[in-house]
Amino acid sequence: MSETSENETGRAKASAANGADESAGGKASRNGRLAIFGGKKAVQKKAKEKWRKVTLREIGTVLYSGLRDVNTVSDGGGPLRQFEKKFAEMCGTKYAIVMNSGTATLHSAYFATGCGPGDEVIVPAYTFFASSTPILQVGATPVFCDVDEKTLIADPAHVERLITPRTRAICVVHVWGNPGKMDAFLDIARRHRVALIEDASHAPGASYAGRPVGSWGDIGCFSLQGAKAVSGGECGVAVTDDPDLYDRMLALGHNGRTGRGQVNGTFEGLDNVSFGLKYRPHVYGVILALGGLDRLGELNELRRRNYRILEEELRGCPGIQPVGTYEEAERGGFLNFILNFDPKQCGDWSREAFVQAAKAEGVPLSVDRYTQFGNRWALLPDSPMFTTMETKGLGGPMGIALDNYRKNPAPELPNTRKLVTRLVSLPAFAKVPPEYVRDCARALRKVAEAAPGVRDFRDI
Ligand SMILES: Cc1ncc(COP(=O)(O)O)c(C=O)c1O
Repeated sequence: MSETSENETGRAKASAANGADESAGGKASRNGRLAIFGGKKAVQKKAKEKWRKVTLREIGTVLYSGLRDVNTVSDGGGPLRQFEKKFAEMCGTKYAIVMNSGTATLHSAYFATGCGPGDEVIVPAYTFFASSTPILQVGATPVFCDVDEKTLIADPAHVERLITPRTRAICVVHVWGNPGKMDAFLDIARRHRVALIEDASHAPGASYAGRPVGSWGDIGCFSLQGAKAVSGGECGVAVTDDPDLYDRMLALGHNGRTGRGQVNGTFEGLDNVSFGLKYRPHVYGVILALGGLDRLGELNELRRRNYRILEEELRGCPGIQPVGTYEEAERGGFLNFILNFDPKQCGDWSREAFVQAAKAEGVPLSVDRYTQFGNRWALLPDSPMFTTMETKGLGGPMGIALDNYRKNPAPELPNTRKLVTRLVSLPAFAKVPPEYVRDCARALRKVAEAAPGVRDFRDI
């Protein structure tokens, strides 16, 4: 546990002890006294997540591959071809290229769409760092945009205001499996003649207006890292309809495939070398991801059902609400279930206090990760890399890109900044009993309803 969270826990405990004294607060809600003040836990029966990303079937295939000495596939055949075909089919795109990480797919996308020194790429301020750092690797400048506080997805109006003659691309992140307003982004991208890239790392199987995420933009990028809904341990996959973009991504990091693998012959003399990077995935990872892809529909159904339970149980509870979805959108992947905690409705508690009280009730709640990068600063644009870190020693285009970025630091981000005191996170429940999800939701409601009557927590 970090020093900060230890202190927080200590303070929460001290306050809990105070709260146990009725005269010092700790008023019982209609659901009974809070467990953190010695009341009965709301979630009496813990549930174990029974969903497994890897099954014996895939392990058997890995074993078979290993015993045949098939430990690498450099020409993009075998499981790589199978996976790419299936993934492109799911997204409804012509092409897919499987790589060794989601970060590699984003780097390839920025490279393929021609982003380079002097260019700007608009990317949300609320996301994992890897949506933005590959922009620096091509020498371009990230421009952080605000997000819609209800859905956490890039705000199209703000994105459009940030467009300048230097803008080369927009990256929309379907964070926590929640699709952005892709019709609006497509319209903006086409009118301003800039590339549209989707970071759909959290969202395989999600769609907007019936069309799969990843297929709206010029390139769609997905992480297949261990925690993701489709996991190859460490892998990623990019999809596109454009043969030129396909060839350019292939040429960046797939030696062995560039000669005969290009679909448009974009780089005639390239033969089988690449532009110097190696983004080929491990064949075992792709075998694991193939199994996960086959079972993605089932996983998404389970997670959607559980998310609906949270929504039903927390309807009309202003203190805590699952993050909203646009009417035209269907979620997929999820990664985590994210909820919006409103301190004003909860006696001005801090979200850390709310998390401590919910944990005491037996809910596996935690503080959201993307609003506490490094535990010391909050949003990505505030992290030392984008603010104070010494960049002189950095070679390549990265140092120059960071220096350029610092000349025009992040714009005002009023909605995104609000999230820092509000977002909390649950595991993306899949194969757990629905009653357990219901109990967790009821426990959250219990804490939210009791909070205004508990004054001790205000100092936490
Ligand atoms: C939104 C987002 N984009 C990109 C990535 C990078 O993916 P990878 O870890 O596979 O490189 C992640 C990984 O968690 C992510 O969450």
